[in-house]
Amino acid sequence: MTFRWALAGHGHISSTFRDALAAVPGAELVAVAGRDTNRVKAYAEAHAIPKHYVSTADMLDAGGIDAVYVCTPHPAHLDAALASVGTKIPVLVEKPMTPAAGTTGQLVDAARGAGVFAMEAMWTRFLPAYLSVREWIDQGRIGDVQLLTASFGFRAELDAEHRLFSPALAGGGLLDVGVYPLALAQWLYASAPETVVATGVVGETGVDEHVVVSARYPGGLAQFGCAVRANLDTCAVVRGTEGHIEIPAFWSAQSATLHRGDTIETSSHPHRVNGFEHQIEEVMACVREGKAESDKMPLGQSLELAEVCDQIRNQLGVTYPFETQ
Ligand SMILES: NC(=O)c1ccc[n+]([C@@H]2O[C@H](COP(=O)([O-])OP(=O)(O)OC[C@H]3O[C@@H](n4cnc5c(N)ncnc54)[C@H](OP(=O)(O)O)[C@@H]3O)[C@@H](O)[C@H]2O)c1
Repeated sequence: MTFRWALAGHGHISSTFRDALAAVPGAELVAVAGRDTNRVKAYAEAHAIPKHYVSTADMLDAGGIDAVYVCTPHPAHLDAALASVGTKIPVLVEKPMTPAAGTTGQLVDAARGAGVFAMEAMWTRFLPAYLSVREWIDQGRIGDVQLLTASFGFRAELDAEHRLFSPALAGGGLLDVGVYPLALAQWLYASAPETVVATGVVGETGVDEHVVVSARYPGGLAQFGCAVRANLDTCAVVRGTEGHIEIPAFWSAQSATLHRGDTIETSSHPHRVNGFEHQIEEVMACVREGKAESDKMPLGQSLELAEVCDQIRNQLGVTYPFETQ
C-alpha cells in the first residue's frame, strides 16, 4: 500500500518536497490545495497530481490521504494544520510551525487531544551528518562542549510585497532562517536556553532583517545570527575543551569535520536527493508505527522554539499585525 501525500500550498518549497518525495519508495503525491482555481489546476497538471482543490478543507474532506504537507506562508500554517488534525489526517507543517508560541501551543494541544501525528518540518534534524556529530560528541572526541556558533543569512533584495519582508506574512529572518540555528542548539544541548539576549536591525517594513543572539544553555553557550539582508557564514561550529566540529552549510549538512589536535576527520553524507527525503521517511515511519509524535522532533520542542522566537522578537520589538487585532 503506497503512502498518499497531499500538499496544502504549492509555492517555492513545494518543488523541493516533490523532488524528494519522488525518490522515497512507497510514497506518492495524490492531491494539492491552493487558493486560486487556475493556479492550483495549472500546478496539478504540470506535475501530474491527480486531484486539486481550492481549499485545504475540501481536500481533507475528500479523503484518500495519509498525510498532508503544509507549505503555505507562516500565518496560514495554523488553519491548514488544525483542519488536518481535525479530520484525523497526519500533518507535516513547514517551519516555523506557526508564527508565535500561543498559536503553536494551540496546534500542539489540538494534535495531542486528537491523537493525530503532527510534526514541524525541521528537516535538518533528520540529516545523517548529524549522526556523526552526535557520535563524536558522545565519544568525548571534542571533550566537554562549550560553545555553538551557527548562523544562517542571505541578502535578498528588499521587496515589501514578498513574504520575507511582509509583517502580515510574519516575514523577517528569525522565522525564516533563524529557527535553524535555534533548532540546532536545542538538539545539541537537549534543552531550552536559560537566557537569551538578542539585538538586531528592524527594517523599514517592520520585520527583523538581521539579528544576532547570545544564549546560555545548561550545557554551554551559543551565538547565532540570522538575516534576510546580509550574507552570513553558514558553517556551524561546535567547540569543546579538546577540539571542535565544523558543519558546513549546517542547515542542509552533507558532511561534518572533526578537529582534535593534529587529527582532522571528515564524515560525508551526500543527499540522496535534496535532504528532504529524511523527514519524509520519518513521517511515514512514525505514521505506520502509529506514533502521534516523532521522537526526533517532538511537538514540545516546536513549542519551545516558538517560545524562544517570541522572546527574541520581544527584545527586538517586532510584532505582526495579526497579533494586535
Ligand atoms: N524547509 C525549507 O528549506 C523551506 C524553504 C523555504 C520555505 N519554507 C517554508 O515554507 C513555507 C512556504 O514558503 P514558500 O517560499 O514556498 O512560499 P511561497 O512560494 O510564497 O508559496 C506559498 C504557497 O502558499 C499559497 N498561499 C499564499 N498565501 C496563502 C494564504 N494566506 N493561505 C493559504 N495559502 C496561501 C500560495 O499559493 P496561492 O497564492 O496561489 O494561493 C503558494 O502556493 C514558509 O512557511 C517557509 O518558512 C521552508
